[in-house]
Amino acid sequence: MLKKRDFALIVLAVIIVAFLWAAPEESTSRVPYDDTHRPYFEMVKKEGKKAAEKHCETCHNAEGVPFPAEHPPKFRCLFCHKLEETPSS
Ligand code: HEC
Ligand code: HEC
Repeated sequence: MLKKRDFALIVLAVIIVAFLWAAPEESTSRVPYDDTHRPYFEMVKKEGKKAAEKHCETCHNAEGVPFPAEHPPKFRCLFCHKLEETPSS
């Protein structure tokens, strides 16, 4: 049977996992579901994230929509920026 201490460890583990799970999504802005970005929601569904990401930097660059100065390395946009929840998915 479970001892009290085992139970405490399980609770602690659940809290840590939940925290790690939630942290990146809450701190990084999501890709908005607007007219500009809607085509990429389709593309992610059909061709995957890697295919969609190739297009981000046609607008998101120094001359277009600039990144915040402290932006981290941007090798994989959708790894950090989750797609906004949509009614259809
Ligand atoms: C056609 C141009 C264009 C393309 C392509 C594009 N974006 Fe954007 N993006 C914009 C513009 C303009 C804004 C700012 C206004 C807005 O929110 O629509 C923006 C805003 C954002 C934001 C910030 C939203 C916020 O909360 O402020 C994120 C994150 C983002 N884009 C991610 C992406 C990713 C990831 C891709 C590739 C899948 C992408 N964008 C492709 C034009 C583009
Ligand atoms: C390593 C994680 C990471 C990657 C990869 C990444 N970003 Fe970001 N991005 C962030 C963080 C963190 C911020 C600052 C917090 C925020 O506003 O989301 C940010 C901010 C932004 C913003 C401004 C959001 C706002 O609310 O003003 C845009 C636009 C953006 N990123 C687009 C992109 C695009 C396009 C790519 C791919 C070329 C990309 N990011 C790749 C982590 C990442």
